Amino acid sequence: MNQKTILPGQTIGILGGGQLGRMMAISAKQMGYRIAVLDPVEDCPCAQVAGSVITADYDDPDAAKKMADVADVVTYEFENVDVKTVDYLQENSYLPQGGHLLEITKDRLNEKAAIQSAGLPVAPYMPVRNTKELEEAIDTIGFPSVLKTTQGGYDGKGQYVLKSKADLEEALPYIGKTPFELEKWLPFEKEISVIVARSTTGETSVFPVAENIHRHNILHHTLVPARISDNLREEATQHALRLAEALHLVGTLAVEMFVGTDGRVYVNETAPRPHNSGHFSINACETSQFEQHIRAICGLPLASAQLLKPVIMVNILGQHVQPVLDKISELSSAHLHLYGKDAAKTGRKMGHLTILGDTVDEAIEKAEQIGIWKIEQEVGRHS
Ligand SMILES: Nc1ncnc2c1ncn2[C@@H]1O[C@H](COP(=O)(O)OP(=O)(O)O)[C@@H](O)[C@H]1O
Ligand SMILES: [Mg+2]
Repeated sequence: MNQKTILPGQTIGILGGGQLGRMMAISAKQMGYRIAVLDPVEDCPCAQVAGSVITADYDDPDAAKKMADVADVVTYEFENVDVKTVDYLQENSYLPQGGHLLEITKDRLNEKAAIQSAGLPVAPYMPVRNTKELEEAIDTIGFPSVLKTTQGGYDGKGQYVLKSKADLEEALPYIGKTPFELEKWLPFEKEISVIVARSTTGETSVFPVAENIHRHNILHHTLVPARISDNLREEATQHALRLAEALHLVGTLAVEMFVGTDGRVYVNETAPRPHNSGHFSINACETSQFEQHIRAICGLPLASAQLLKPVIMVNILGQHVQPVLDKISELSSAHLHLYGKDAAKTGRKMGHLTILGDTVDEAIEKAEQIGIWKIEQEVGRHS
């Protein structure tokens, strides 16, 4: 890969025009870059802030050509980018992140193997590509466990939590049709994540460790600093840095981890891009994950990712949009981010609120006072 410095005034092409693309674009535009976005949906969140919009399917060769013509550097906001498009852009444009990391992270088996070869712990797992492998995996891993599709899952989709044999029934029709992996259920104290950036020059920068609370398998809120010991914080940070180096990361990598009840930090999964659990950085850090991502792919020096104040980030899902709008005149201490999506379907990520405090507890209290979210309730996968 020939490393270049991309200067403000030049054009950054983004594959995918959802909220992550939009927030990358906002940061980049602030720095004086121009934005081109490729997305099948004309009025997607990023198209609303981009200078040029290519409305086409991700596997459309003409669209890839248009992107190569207009962009000086290309990045992506999601991991399932079409392989042919990635190959074309590697040949005909400048894609400093390359295609290799996408190959790894879009497949849970590849990803787990890569994490292990970086020397980091993961939940015991086995491939389940047919009923024979399912039997072997159940014999070895047992219950409780979780069966996950190896590709394309998000927000708990494509997963079956198995407490006993009876729970297998729902998944059985899909075995052999789609590749799965079976994973031991890890009892955890907390779910945490770390965003790490690595630039084309090899410089790295790590964001503060975030504590994530999911409800119905969707990230509900993130607290920073995570309420864990300094030793665990250091371990999680080192895990993220180690992965960034081992994977030859360029750009941003989100590393989701479990703090196990055994006191170890396990890596759950990664995403080769900015991540929902890093949105707090826009208002709470010296530099946001989006600006850092732009700096990393453009070959600019990375900036400080230091936390300025404790923070809570709460997701605004479809069902929260109207209540938030109804309270807008009371939101003086909450930074509102809405992504410009019109269909407010239940569970759809429509935006987020960021609230700073002198302590995490104070930030939580302010978030509860809004009266839309209960923050401190029992947590758990299906709560
Ligand atoms: N092995 C596991 N042990 C315990 N909980 C798990 C395990 N795998 C997943 N989970 C729970 O399910 C959630 C979703 O799983 P994850 O692998 O992160 O998939 P997704 O791609 O849908 O985010 C996790 O955030 C965690 O709460
Ligand atoms: Mg996850």
